[in-house]
Amino acid sequence: MMKNLSHRLSEMPETEAIIRAWQTRFEDILPAYLPDPSKAPRCLYEAMHYSATAGGKRIRPLFVYASGRVLGMEESQLDAIAVAIEFIHTYSLIHDDLPSMDDDDLRRGQPSCHRKFDEATAILAGDALQALAFEILATDSALRTFPERQTAVILGLARACGAGGMAGGQVLDLASIGAQLTQDQLEDIHAYKTGALIQFCTVAPAILAAADGSRVTALARYGKLTGLAFQVFDDLLDVTGSSELTGKPSQADAARSKPAFPSVIGVGKSLERATELRDLALASLHPLGGDVDTLMWLAGYSVNRKR
Ligand code: IPE
Ligand code: IPE
Ligand code: MG
Ligand code: MG
Ligand code: MG
Repeated sequence: MMKNLSHRLSEMPETEAIIRAWQTRFEDILPAYLPDPSKAPRCLYEAMHYSATAGGKRIRPLFVYASGRVLGMEESQLDAIAVAIEFIHTYSLIHDDLPSMDDDDLRRGQPSCHRKFDEATAILAGDALQALAFEILATDSALRTFPERQTAVILGLARACGAGGMAGGQVLDLASIGAQLTQDQLEDIHAYKTGALIQFCTVAPAILAAADGSRVTALARYGKLTGLAFQVFDDLLDVTGSSELTGKPSQADAARSKPAFPSVIGVGKSLERATELRDLALASLHPLGGDVDTLMWLAGYSVNRKR
């Protein structure tokens, strides 16, 4: 069964068209969620705008819309959640590139935020994007219709990006420099620093829809496996990808003595693990029902991409 599903991934033109339409929709709606330029200090607004509109893949919003599609939701119900998560992600990238973290000068093919502006502005743009994400969730009309579900979504995002999620994972990632890690230890770091936020993308729509427990569990499992696969493949791209396509420096993990999948288990085994995680994610879709094609496509794309 898993084989059949993965075999279908290469021939899904209609699904790809839906994904492209979501990307376009997201680029269109995002600017209106940025602060009013007349109400924020100019350089702070410019730094937030620069990093938020720099042209990422928008895979987290795509996970949100795809999870909502399975549950029969409208995109308009999900825009605020998609934007809030992308703003948290953008903030995490701005801080990830800082000299005290990964010290990278290139992001999405352009100078990193702290290179384009300065370090203090980049730190504060990240802070402001994080705060804005929660403001968006607290004020969105689709969420405010269901106050208890709204609180659960806000709590879920706080946990996914906080000490027990992304921020905690980033601490473990930095503490791993120069260390010899086992595959399990590395998977743990990846699950925190990247997996938690991606998992939340698939769970948040289910919270808002008050979906059945079994569907929430299946979406959570899919999100966890895909999130981990996504970071395994990110590690692979650092070694085998082209900086022109990824828009970030190549071989950066090794340059910082950062344990990553290729250095811990080798390129071939890393690709095998990414594929295995994808197949487990595809299998987790079976109990869901509904139109799972876009989630299938995204699982495939997570481990077969150039950027
Ligand atoms: C990069 O994320 C950082 C990771 C968590 C792997 P993406 O690969 O989603 O970056 P963009 O948003 O497309 O630039
Ligand atoms: C980043 O992981 C994870 C985040 C939470 C931002 P990486 O450090 O590998 O991401 P890139 O390769 O710089 O995009
Ligand atoms: Mg990093
Ligand atoms: Mg980095
Ligand atoms: Mg990386």
